[in-house]
Amino acid sequence: MNDIALAVIGGTGVYRLPGVTWRDSVEADTRYGRPSGPVRIADIDGHAVAFLARHGEGHGVPPHQVNYRANLQALHDLGARRVLAVNTVGGITEAYGPRVMAVPDQLIDYTWGRISTLCEEPGTEVLHVDFGDPYTEDLRQAILSAGAAAGIPLVAGGCYGATQGPRLETKAEIRRLRRDGCNLVGMTGMPEAGLARELGLDYASLCVVANWAAGCDPQDTEITLAEVLANVDSVIGHLMPIIRGVLDA
Ligand code: HPA
Repeated sequence: MNDIALAVIGGTGVYRLPGVTWRDSVEADTRYGRPSGPVRIADIDGHAVAFLARHGEGHGVPPHQVNYRANLQALHDLGARRVLAVNTVGGITEAYGPRVMAVPDQLIDYTWGRISTLCEEPGTEVLHVDFGDPYTEDLRQAILSAGAAAGIPLVAGGCYGATQGPRLETKAEIRRLRRDGCNLVGMTGMPEAGLARELGLDYASLCVVANWAAGCDPQDTEITLAEVLANVDSVIGHLMPIIRGVLDA
């Protein structure tokens, strides 16, 4: 099968595509093991779209234990060549407050101990993929154009800091990320983006800001899962118009 026009990976709070009925469901098994859950497939405006919940549909898989290789390989095996990754994140700098949606253009990887390459399998060729621009520019632009066409405000650009989790960061850690130039912080951006590049997939991230990162909220309130989910929920209606726009591009 080589007919998937777009694959969507859903992050925290995004366990389905709103209003979409699946026509197929694939329990994939890859050379790297099983993905986080079934790959759902739907026809949207005449295009086949695959969807995979990164943490599983019941949110049972923490960020450091996601089988990123299997997730991407499963989508690749189904014929997907473009991946729109939805990442729930914390906002660090002013333009990236709660409920903002952003399309980052850079990232810094602070994760550790995750399998971050496809080159570990015996006999595989060692790759040193170009990763200067970690997201596929054409796909980023397609997302931004889709947002503009649908009247959905999207922040263009920004640097995503990928942290280990699953705990949230200390205020000092976020101060360090800010000094490093990060605008957003999340736990799943890496190794996903790097593996996508190794697999030759077009890959871009649509970040949904769920909360101010530690120490960035002027009110200094505690970050709760309820706040995170409520903020994601309040903007998730924007996802389908963006997907439709990307499909039409
Ligand atoms: N930090 C890291 N990951 C996150 C956050 C955060 O504040 N919010 C949602 N995902």
